[in-house]
Amino acid sequence: MKHNEVKKYYEKKLNEFIKHNKLYFEDSLPIISDNLYDKIKQEILDLEKKYTFLKSASSPSNSLGYAPSKNFVKSRHRVRMLSLSNAFNNEDLENFEKKIFNYLNKKVDLEYSVEPKIDGISASLTYKDGLFTVGTSRGDGTTGEVITENLKTIKDIPKKITSKDFPKDIDIRGEVFITKDDFEKLKNNFANPRNAASGSLRQKNPEETKKIPLNFIAYTYGYFESDKIKKQSDFLNSLKKWGFKTNDYNKVLKTINDLEKFHKKFENDRFDLEYDVDGLVYKIDSLELQKRLGFTANSPRWAIAHKFSADSAYSQIRDISIQIGRTGALTPVARIKPVNIGGVVVSNATLHNEDEIIRKDIRLGDTVKVERAGDVIPHVILVDLKKREKKSKKFIFPKNCPSCGSETIKEFNKTTKKYDAVRRCTNEGYDCEKIAIEKIKHFISKDAMNIDGLGKKVVENFWDLNLIRFPQDIYNLDYNKISNLEGWGNLSVSNLKYSIDQSKKVSLDKFLYAIGVRHIGIENAKLLAEYVKSIKNFLGFVNKNNLNEFLNIDGIGDTQINSLKKFFENKSNYKIVEKLSSLLNISDLKLNKYGKLLNNTFMFTGKLSNMSRAEAKSLIEKNSGSVVSSVNKKLKYLIIGEKPTNRKVEQARSLGIKILSQKEWLSLLD
Ligand code: IVH
Repeated sequence: MKHNEVKKYYEKKLNEFIKHNKLYFEDSLPIISDNLYDKIKQEILDLEKKYTFLKSASSPSNSLGYAPSKNFVKSRHRVRMLSLSNAFNNEDLENFEKKIFNYLNKKVDLEYSVEPKIDGISASLTYKDGLFTVGTSRGDGTTGEVITENLKTIKDIPKKITSKDFPKDIDIRGEVFITKDDFEKLKNNFANPRNAASGSLRQKNPEETKKIPLNFIAYTYGYFESDKIKKQSDFLNSLKKWGFKTNDYNKVLKTINDLEKFHKKFENDRFDLEYDVDGLVYKIDSLELQKRLGFTANSPRWAIAHKFSADSAYSQIRDISIQIGRTGALTPVARIKPVNIGGVVVSNATLHNEDEIIRKDIRLGDTVKVERAGDVIPHVILVDLKKREKKSKKFIFPKNCPSCGSETIKEFNKTTKKYDAVRRCTNEGYDCEKIAIEKIKHFISKDAMNIDGLGKKVVENFWDLNLIRFPQDIYNLDYNKISNLEGWGNLSVSNLKYSIDQSKKVSLDKFLYAIGVRHIGIENAKLLAEYVKSIKNFLGFVNKNNLNEFLNIDGIGDTQINSLKKFFENKSNYKIVEKLSSLLNISDLKLNKYGKLLNNTFMFTGKLSNMSRAEAKSLIEKNSGSVVSSVNKKLKYLIIGEKPTNRKVEQARSLGIKILSQKEWLSLLD
């Protein structure tokens, strides 16, 4: 067949595929048998294999090509499904424990529940009166997709539990995964076992899920009320008693040294397991301590995933290109001769920053050792100097931004009294093309506006086609034009429209994170949202040049304030935020309005006993109070610990602010 004919035939098959998807998934009115449907799908996949120029966003090779999220009802998790922070080496582990001791303000003997980290997909199962009622995927951690029927096809998931001590209302959480052996049989359709599990779980038709053998191992809970279970390890034992599968290798260990030893041993043993494990999870065993330690924005303070060490390989640097991030950071990337590292073909490796290139004297043509660990970006760890060509010259880092030509600088860090290792483009805003694209990618990302129909590649494509230049353009897309683009069918356009519409309702903290101010990450965006309460107030602070008032917020300092000022000094940034706030429905942060400390502001001075500042702050916030960082009329209570700052106490006295000892403060909380 000629090129044109192949393309025509391929498009014909794709249109059939799209039509039947719609009939099946959206209208629930299939007009062909499953067999015939599979045949069409296979034919498309075969054509793509044979003629590599064929590709389409609607192809079944693209994330299954169907099972759009719109087909699943969404449900808010009663307790968020968080991820874990990672430790890659012993130093990271030691820091993890140090942070715990700092938070608790003392050293305590810890016990850890140690659990293999299976590389699958997490799911949450709600049981009411012993019956499995609703099952959800993790989704964005706050809201998941309801996939109950698909989960019901998994044999490891009990549908009914009769044990007397099984809680009346509980979310059981665990990992859905596929074994290595089963993956072997399916490997032509999926990139790795994790994708296979994910694809299978999100099938609209549970019968399809049944075809791919999935397993479930339980490891934690979401919503659950009990004062009987005191330890994670006891919870794991109860899970087993109630009929769930738990990991046979779960154990309890005490010291960091024991953890390191076990990790080393398990790292080798894991190859004999029947499923993929990418690390070990360590959780503080005492549930009471877990409760005290609480969470940061995305992960618990009481747990960490200790990843297995990376696979590595040697390859040659063909080119060094400079990527520009959304905050203007210039990141050098080595384009290497493609090399297989632990089953994945790697052709790019990060060189981190200018200083790293200088320190390692990395040059074009060098043979380098590249390391890859799990989902972390591969990086260059050393140069094989024996293989260096005699003529090779030092790499000169560009002094101007390769995208917009602006001057680049290394900022001076007042705290460390050193220049940053990272060089940045000085263009703040949307005049630098690369920064603008990255800002838009950040805007749509999961923790920000969470527009899952609009991936990074689509942003790049739409940019090239002049469809978007600013975030607000996303809400004004010409869908007619898009449906005429190659690779876009009716189904994919309607999915895109749906996810964009869904994103219009957003909480204030997510929005403040999405606009992409440097140094305003998820955690700081939350602090700002809690303080300003509404987007109107926030813009009020900006308009009145009142940003210094945010210094009152405990956790916000000069770095964040200066960054906010710089951001809003740029008129186009201000216009974008204003425009977006009129297009979107930005809801106030849902605050706990019923806590005992509602409308009360606190400040600490001096050392607290048995508790760090961070824990004290979180305790106040859990009870609807807020913590400020300066003594002024807005402050209601000054809490004094050991060796308080006299100036603060006197200031508070003169303003008539109530002064409390730690004990008096705690008694307010009962
Ligand atoms: S605990 C807040 N335990 O790892 C607690 N997670 O990055 C979070 N995982 O999404 C989960 N084995 O998919 C936990 N024994 C285990 C786990 C485990 C695998 C996965 C899970 C989660 C991710 C965390």
